[in-house]
Amino acid sequence: MAYAGAYADLYAGWKANPEGFWMEAAQGIDWVKAPTRALNDDRAPLYEWFSDAVVNTCFNAVDRHVLAGRGDQIAIKHVSPITHSTKGITYAQLQKRVASLAGALRAKGVEKGDRVIIYMPMIAEAVEAMLACARLGAIHSVVFGGFAANELAVRIDDCTPKCIIAASCGLEPGRVVHYKPLLDKAIDLASHKPDFCVVFQREEEVAKLIEGRDVAWHTFQYGVEPAECVPVSGDHPVYILYTSGTTGAPKGVVRATAGHLVALNWTMKAIYDIDAGDVFWAASDVGWVVGHSYICYAPLIAGATTIVYEGKPVGTPDAGAFWRVVQNQRVKVLFTAPTALRAIKRDDPQGELIKDYNLRSLKALYLAGERADPDTILWAGRHLNVPVIDHWWQTETGWAIAANPLGIEALTVKIGSPSVAMPGYDVQVLDEGGHPVAPGTLGAIVVKLPLPPGTLPTLWNAEDRFKKSYLAHFPGFYETGDAGYIDEDGYLYIMARTDDVINVAGHRLSTGAMEEVLAGHPDVAECAVIGVADQLKGQSPLGFLCLNKGSGRDAGDVVKECVKLMREKIGPVADFKRAVVVDRLPKTRSGKILRGTMVKIADSTPYKAPATIDDPAILDEIKAALQTLGLAKG
Ligand code: COA
Ligand code: AMP
Repeated sequence: MAYAGAYADLYAGWKANPEGFWMEAAQGIDWVKAPTRALNDDRAPLYEWFSDAVVNTCFNAVDRHVLAGRGDQIAIKHVSPITHSTKGITYAQLQKRVASLAGALRAKGVEKGDRVIIYMPMIAEAVEAMLACARLGAIHSVVFGGFAANELAVRIDDCTPKCIIAASCGLEPGRVVHYKPLLDKAIDLASHKPDFCVVFQREEEVAKLIEGRDVAWHTFQYGVEPAECVPVSGDHPVYILYTSGTTGAPKGVVRATAGHLVALNWTMKAIYDIDAGDVFWAASDVGWVVGHSYICYAPLIAGATTIVYEGKPVGTPDAGAFWRVVQNQRVKVLFTAPTALRAIKRDDPQGELIKDYNLRSLKALYLAGERADPDTILWAGRHLNVPVIDHWWQTETGWAIAANPLGIEALTVKIGSPSVAMPGYDVQVLDEGGHPVAPGTLGAIVVKLPLPPGTLPTLWNAEDRFKKSYLAHFPGFYETGDAGYIDEDGYLYIMARTDDVINVAGHRLSTGAMEEVLAGHPDVAECAVIGVADQLKGQSPLGFLCLNKGSGRDAGDVVKECVKLMREKIGPVADFKRAVVVDRLPKTRSGKILRGTMVKIADSTPYKAPATIDDPAILDEIKAALQTLGLAKG
């Protein structure tokens, strides 16, 4: 490591003694029974952390702050420019509300280890539901509201929940998202049926409850005994969060209790420089990993105030929305996806709206979820006058693999790099043969096993898939699925995915899953989905459809039906709005579709027909088809 200083010392200290490093970090957690060791490698290459400890997540996120005298401090601030409301919940109130909800769930049979699906929009009750599950040792699985009934059904069948907690509706600008019909349809579609559903009725929409199955959030809590925190072992899963893989079947990332607590608690000070009492705002959604780690758990574990924001960066009502919240809530650290800043920059290029607000509280802006483009970083730094910190992580890791740890030492920012590996992560770049490459050389980014606390120990009910997806390709390493390089100073550069995952507005989507949907259209014989460059959203999905011979269908009609089908099957979040009909797809002689070449053609970047291509003439057909959409210029 070329840099000397607090970060380099810390990293070297971790590397020399990982056990000591994490046992020390574990002191930030209130244990029922403290761990006697950090790493459990009895089942290597599967690892557990603090597995002999006994602990409760909700106690650490809520109760301990009340006991420490912080009961009157705001724990959650719900800010909704969509409903024009702001509501604060103190730690003491949160404790009561969560204990009551947990008590009601318990009274209906939810126990330690049972799964509970949470399908809710950005309201404080979504966080309360997560905490109530953690209080009981029940394992929650939050499903993002932008997913359709079909995706919810897939998750119901995979994690077989005893209960589903939903809201009556979500609110997108100009559109009410009717959760209840989606929930009912998902339960119809799924083979597994939950014992009961809890529905939080919002003022904006009262959903019709199904007798015998559905209970209302408020009424089912009447007269029940509040629940105390149930101790669980360190390796007990606190949640399952599904994320996109190569196929249509999402991967259920498991998060184990103790490692999650220790790691998140450590990150709040070391990476974000947040102390108890500070206001932290992750402008994401509880349905994503950023929402799990940095809207719900980490800020609360650290005794900070977290903002639950129901709105958009623009249009609710304007591009000053973020700055208004920062000013009014005295936000110290804002965490968002670069796409949100690009949306703001597009509406307010000169940052005029930023000048309307007093942003003195803001100390840093953190970006993650997709590659942060230099223009966006520079624009934000210039107008906000605070450090803009890109950091890199994944649903699987739950916290940053690489960052600039402001709480340890503000390292030099290199634009285009999420900076350096955090303690716990020995990040390396390997070639196809698994050999380390020289600094500055592109390769597959991997992390030497074991991964640190807080990262996934396995996939839910899919240990073999876990090993095959992440551990098999490079034995002894975790394969991140990202490609990039490390420079001479140890700074990482994340350049592309090595699989079929694309990133649309900071949302991770599987082109494989989209292709499965298109293949289900009766007139589609063959198809491919690629991610093309998009100025606002980073990438945007685009479909290629080959129709059945003699289908006689109008191409435009089939495209429209496919767009509708994608919304019905995956949901609006897929943002699938464009497809073209072509006669044939370019393939290698062994039949592999040349998606990478199609991306290059669409993005108007230089391309060469691969030597293995079956028929190079098809590339011209693809180019012509893309030009009808205004792509593949030149
Ligand atoms: N429930 C239901 N629908 C949702 C939804 C939710 N929680 N979130 C998004 N959608 C819908 C949107 O309404 C939109 O529907 P439409 O096709 O009818 O317009 C569709 O999904 C696509 O949404 P999105 O990709 O968010 O695009 P957008 O045009 O509405 O907004 C941005 C663009 C850039 C403002 C927005 O994507 C954004 O704020 N992104 C931040 C990304 C982020 O927080 N990522 C989390 C990882 S850190
Ligand atoms: P998710 O699991 O949804 O958080 O998506 C994780 C993926 O998003 C990573 O594997 C990367 O491909 C991408 N990603 C996240 N953060 C960054 C970043 N800071 N820079 C580049 N890509 C990122």
